[in-house]
Amino acid sequence: MSSTQNLAARVVAWQAKHGRHHLPWQQERTPYRVWLSEIMLQQTQVTTVIDYYQRFLERFPTVADLASATQDDVMPYWAGLGYYARARNLHRCAQQVMNEHGGSFPPCSEQLATLPGIGRSTAAAIASFCFGERSPIMDGNVKRVFTRYFGIHGHPQQRQIELKLWGLAEEAVACSPADLDMAVYTQGLMDLGSMLCTRSKPNCAQCPLVADCYAHAHQQTAELPTRKPRAVQPERECHVLILEADGHVLLEQRPDSGIWGGLWTLPQFEHLEGLQDFSQSLAITLPAQSRMAAMLHVFSHFKLHITPWFVQRAELPTQHDNQHWVAIEDLPDTALPAPIRKLLDGLYPSPETELATLF
Ligand code: ADE
Repeated sequence: MSSTQNLAARVVAWQAKHGRHHLPWQQERTPYRVWLSEIMLQQTQVTTVIDYYQRFLERFPTVADLASATQDDVMPYWAGLGYYARARNLHRCAQQVMNEHGGSFPPCSEQLATLPGIGRSTAAAIASFCFGERSPIMDGNVKRVFTRYFGIHGHPQQRQIELKLWGLAEEAVACSPADLDMAVYTQGLMDLGSMLCTRSKPNCAQCPLVADCYAHAHQQTAELPTRKPRAVQPERECHVLILEADGHVLLEQRPDSGIWGGLWTLPQFEHLEGLQDFSQSLAITLPAQSRMAAMLHVFSHFKLHITPWFVQRAELPTQHDNQHWVAIEDLPDTALPAPIRKLLDGLYPSPETELATLF
């Protein structure tokens, strides 16, 4: 029968032997480094995060360095990771740590969870990794392990299911011996979720919890966790203008809220008429041959069909308030959304991208 008894002990023994021990954020577990990694890992895979994490730490080695930077300094180091509200909260959080906590992250999950961008599970992860606090985590990976192990049906984002999972997570810690190594247990749950208890084809044969796992006993690993009923993804269209003049491209900064918040992107229009009006205001004509092949970008909640229009001019027309002429050689260092980066890389390959396509 699935039970909380010995769950933590089995996870800890498995982690010590089979878990991950060489991730960059495991090497020097300061609250700043652990916090940064946990925020990056909230919606992004480990393999993607590693490079971003290292580049970010080189540029902002301490929370003080991050707090004293501007948001425009920070965005290029986040561009491509997605979910940009995370980067804005990260910056605000660093400033609060400096201004309200004397430059040190508070040493308990309850206070950590009051900071921008730190939810209950992230607060518990930081507190258990850095301070050994007996607070359980409940992220996407752990939800998968727990719904399968305990046989919890119903979508894990439903409030009552989530509360049930948190209750079981609390119980698993509470019934463990006082010397439970919380850092190893927490890492063990994350490792189990991403290495063995994967969404499809879980490796039950290697799992330390298999003997008492409900989903394994009832052959329900494919049904658990229960999937959210699939909503039809809305589709939207837009037109973007690539206006090149004198070795520069016209970019504009997105407002802080909404998609691509704070990033630099091409002038974008929901309807062709909007693009035509804008072009007219700059005395630009848009011949049919300026229209490029449309591309599709899939967001978590909708699909966007992007039609690029490419126009070259001899001189730089006047830019509007939130716009900026960016030199083509500066594009690699500009915080661009991933599909716009792809589009501009195709038109203006930098020496690095050209090399990358050769190998
Ligand atoms: N996912 C979230 N936090 C993580 C961590 N510390 N290590 C590996 N994967 C994670």
